[in-house]
Amino acid sequence: MALLPILCFPDERLHTVAKPVQAVDARIKQLIADMFETMHDSHGIGLAATQVNVHERLIVIDVSEGRDQPLVLINPEIVWASPETRINDEGCLSVPGIYDGVERHERVHVRALDGEGKEQLIEAEGLLAICIQHEMDHLMGKVFVEYLSPLKRNRIKTKMLKAQREAQR
Ligand code: NI
Repeated sequence: MALLPILCFPDERLHTVAKPVQAVDARIKQLIADMFETMHDSHGIGLAATQVNVHERLIVIDVSEGRDQPLVLINPEIVWASPETRINDEGCLSVPGIYDGVERHERVHVRALDGEGKEQLIEAEGLLAICIQHEMDHLMGKVFVEYLSPLKRNRIKTKMLKAQREAQR
């Protein structure tokens, strides 16, 4: 297993649209293991392949208290979304230290392959529903700060670039 470098906003590569996973083979299984290790190491609850610069439709999630309920979503598609929405504060491993409100569907049904390539239907609500929508945005090249006002987004961009310059010193 290996820790993978996480791309940080405003890295342009975060805006790449991911392609479907062609086969759940040894390479993908290794990537899944590495992504879980990377996510847990950063104390995250979700990670999209896009964030580790692999542009294929793959997400790992674990929203459980004990960090013992790993969920793998390969080629996920939302097949139903509740009309009810809610604004929740979100954060992202690619935008460290920033939390802000984003409107999401309260519940979603998602069809995806699991880590073994088997079809699964996930009926998600609460934190899991938010997390799935956030991570699926990553696969479309969208970072949550893009929901915020241009003013807020520019402030965040400036702050991130400054932090990244300081980290390089
Ligand atoms: Ni994120």
